[in-house]
Amino acid sequence: MKKTILTLVIFFVSTTLTACQFGNVGSDKSITVYTERHYDTDQLLYDRFTELTGIKVNLIRDEADKLITRMNNEGEDSPADVLIIADAGRLHRAKEMDLFQSVTSDILTENVPNHYKDTNNFWYGLTMRARVFVYHPDRVNVSELSTYEDLTDPKWKGRIITRTSTNIYNQSLMSSMIEIMGEEAARAWATGLVQNFARDPQGNDRDQAKAVVSGVADLAIMNTYYIGRMLNSSDPNEVIVGETVRIFFPNQNTTGTHINVSGAGVAKYSQNVDEAIQLIEFLTSEEAQRSYADANYEYPINPSVEPHALLKSWGSFNVQDIPLSKLGEHSVLAIIIMNEIGWK
Ligand SMILES: [Fe+2]
Repeated sequence: MKKTILTLVIFFVSTTLTACQFGNVGSDKSITVYTERHYDTDQLLYDRFTELTGIKVNLIRDEADKLITRMNNEGEDSPADVLIIADAGRLHRAKEMDLFQSVTSDILTENVPNHYKDTNNFWYGLTMRARVFVYHPDRVNVSELSTYEDLTDPKWKGRIITRTSTNIYNQSLMSSMIEIMGEEAARAWATGLVQNFARDPQGNDRDQAKAVVSGVADLAIMNTYYIGRMLNSSDPNEVIVGETVRIFFPNQNTTGTHINVSGAGVAKYSQNVDEAIQLIEFLTSEEAQRSYADANYEYPINPSVEPHALLKSWGSFNVQDIPLSKLGEHSVLAIIIMNEIGWK
């Protein structure tokens, strides 16, 4: 009996604490979120946020660049309170376009490591992904693999594929090389890489993995979560591709694997700043992070949350130690260099 009462007291105290942490229970406030994410599990999290805080969430879903353009056109009249988009390069662009405002909170400081947010707090990472080597184990021996820099070696002639230079993931990878190597060395790297391409860049990240399996190339540079998506695809051919290829995290003994984030910022003209911050706090919380990251087979940003079992099976890895805002700061130069050296 005593034990039951104690359990009940602990339950009451813990639920009250969880509710108080996010405040405003029972309010009729609502916020508008512009997001490029479209996962069913996200809706459950927004429902949970409403349950905890009483704040309703209106979702506007579209492609990231369209949301940015829309917010920019709406200006002060924009109904957006929070913008959620992928890639630090794109988040930086939104910041430069004056679409975000800088916000701080003790909870965000605790949940989001410095490495995964804007240096001036205009946006915070929500999930992390790595841009890795995906290779065919019959045609590549793992002992051949080491670094992004090594992909310029003549031994890779006609064996590598990745998507076009118009793609922001490759622009951010290029920006990271500029930050790490300097402009001239990064230009030489891109030149050598393009010389080893098996074909003119085409298709999305998934198409690169498919082309590796079909024999077009031996190694693709692509994002980790697409392998997770293919392994869990309703298309049996994608499952075969996911099961056939292997993942390699480059630069483990040097500068670390190139990573990127999806992230969120409070809209510059939000009329509901406190509520907007509460949502980002919730999305970075232990309770939300696991399912939020798992929805797209990404890594949680909150270090106290374990990644999905599939991601854990790929092993842990060292990440590039550069501020993610640099990916945005170098993006114009990255695009210029890629065009100049003929990365189509
Ligand atoms: Fe993607």
